[in-house]
Amino acid sequence: MNILILGSGGREHALAWKIRQSTQCDTLYVSPGNAGTATLATNVTLFEGDLNPAAFEQVGDFVVDKKIGLVVAGPEAPLVAGIRDYFDSRSDLRSIAFIGPSQAGAMLEGSKDYAKAFMQKYHIPTAQSKTFNKAQLQEGIRYIDTLPLPIVLKADGLAAGKGVIISETHQEARETLESMLVGEKFGKASEKVVIEDYLKGIELSVFVLTDGLHYKLLPEAKDYKRIGEKDTGPNTGGMGAVTPVPFASQAFMQKVKDTIIEPTIAGLSREGIDYRGFIFIGLMNVKGDPYVIEYNVRLGDPEAEVIIPRIENDLVSLLLATAQQQLDQAPLAISSKTATTVVMVSEGYPDHYEKGKIIEGLDQKSQALVFHAGTRSDTDTVLTNGGRVLAVTGMGDSLEEALQKSYEGVSRIHWEGLYFRRDIGKDLQAL
Ligand code: AMP
Ligand code: GLY
Repeated sequence: MNILILGSGGREHALAWKIRQSTQCDTLYVSPGNAGTATLATNVTLFEGDLNPAAFEQVGDFVVDKKIGLVVAGPEAPLVAGIRDYFDSRSDLRSIAFIGPSQAGAMLEGSKDYAKAFMQKYHIPTAQSKTFNKAQLQEGIRYIDTLPLPIVLKADGLAAGKGVIISETHQEARETLESMLVGEKFGKASEKVVIEDYLKGIELSVFVLTDGLHYKLLPEAKDYKRIGEKDTGPNTGGMGAVTPVPFASQAFMQKVKDTIIEPTIAGLSREGIDYRGFIFIGLMNVKGDPYVIEYNVRLGDPEAEVIIPRIENDLVSLLLATAQQQLDQAPLAISSKTATTVVMVSEGYPDHYEKGKIIEGLDQKSQALVFHAGTRSDTDTVLTNGGRVLAVTGMGDSLEEALQKSYEGVSRIHWEGLYFRRDIGKDLQAL
């Protein structure tokens, strides 16, 4: 079977790496891909920037032309823009296995207001919140004044992971609300703002693959979001990840299934949403009880770079079973090994950074798996092409062994101005 993966990051390289191992995979395409996916698959440029509706036809025609039987959407943007609905609308694409929800399902990530209303309706534990638009600015300010500190403000729409602002004073929260609603700080994404209570606890990323009727729990992971060591400085897309997570005990995960995953899948079905794809639940462990911080309609990045290597089965079989709503028939075996990834980034990330630096050492043998995030090939060299450049994954029988392999892999790679955190997993070693 020919397969197409949409996207260009470390998550998509990890998906390509796993899918390439399947005996069911004939020609594998990644669009647009990166220098890493080019070593496993054929990169094709079907669109520029985020995949938006203007390019859906081109993707659809390519799928027909290349006789593709499975399409996997890596990032959220094309799903929120409705690519799955576009496939459903064309008789020549409708029967193709597609991993990723329709636009209605993608609202779980595309609108925080929608996600909060969904959780309230289906009694899924989450922070208490209210949503305000521009006309309700004064009401929003009055609401802020009633809340204890700190206060969490979230742009309703997609804001490239930057749309959450946590204010330490009421004055700051009032100003932030005004800058989001009136100053259009995040453009259209902050036309509505969700104001919510602050949850104090430890964060965990939980991943589910669902066909709308059944689900499989994938390995959980911990993400390291801040740029600086000891979780300091601005938020990034993720600087590293670890799986399994020691505090995700069986008892805790049972609560996650009972109070979050199952009501979420049942709720989607009640809403008439045909959801076939990944659900990524960002949650907070508050004194042993899970609360949803956010839903994403895709795998996490860099979490995918640690959870995919722990999946022992053929991923293509799992994905096809998902598309055929037969996930209950598909076995899932998870390795008991620990996997860690360390993200190597460009100097200046997550703010301004330069691209085009020559990456050296990629050809050196190492025990680590090197997933490319922002890279591109240029004749015989690989160049940096983004803020997050590589994710270096180690696997071992212990956290120490996995980390040792990740950092050993990192030590072989060099480019001008590279940066990475040296403390990935350290907090878990102390637990
Ligand atoms: P999000 O973009 O929704 O993942 O939020 C970004 C980050 O903000 C999360 O990973 C949390 O660290 C933090 N955050 C979001 N909502 C809350 C909340 N209600 N309480 C505490 N921290 C939060
Ligand atoms: N690492 C967080 C995310 O993928 O959203």
